[in-house]
Amino acid sequence: CRVVVLISGSGTNLQAFLDAAAEPDCAYRVEAVISNKAEAYGLTRAQNAGVATQVLSHREFADRESFDHAMIEVVDAYQPDLIILAGFMRILTPGFVRHYSGRLLNIHPSLLPKYQGLHTHQRAIDAGDSEHGATVHFVTEELDGGPPIVQAVVPVESGDTADSLAQRVQVQEHKIYPLAATWFAEGRLRMVEDRAELDGELL
Ligand code: GRF
Repeated sequence: CRVVVLISGSGTNLQAFLDAAAEPDCAYRVEAVISNKAEAYGLTRAQNAGVATQVLSHREFADRESFDHAMIEVVDAYQPDLIILAGFMRILTPGFVRHYSGRLLNIHPSLLPKYQGLHTHQRAIDAGDSEHGATVHFVTEELDGGPPIVQAVVPVESGDTADSLAQRVQVQEHKIYPLAATWFAEGRLRMVEDRAELDGELL
């Protein structure tokens, strides 16, 4: 299973994929890492792992449509079976999402459907939630609204800041995201209409 990872930043989730893919029995291979930001540290992580990198800056394009169109050409050159959004901080056009329908995954740092959008950790703290977490989901045209695949739940502890909570969530992100990719690569996970299906059961 050929995987392309899209990033904008630090790439700790990317690192989890690179580490998993380095295991001899891993069901997928990271073919390329593409960033819309030249300074993204994730590019260094990819280079250290011997994975191809490419930068496509959204600033060089007049609008979202033309950027996404160019991004499709860059991504498709690697003939991916699966596209992983790992801290890719651009909202994708419906055309992009449709092009990769059923093979485009994202991880969102909340227990979706709670806290779509930004600042999820602070929002969970402000709401007084006792639990928080992260969700891997198929990407559809609805932002942070695609069918969920797997969630990790962590406790919110008294005295937590957005940063301390984010760190606790990220440890779990790095487990569930490569896990979902493995399910996909093994042919166990697919999107059926608007639901995720694992081992023949709708999630
Ligand atoms: C993660 O918190 C993820 O949930 C969100 O973006 C962040 C990416 O972090 N989608 P990193 O670049 O993988 O460290």
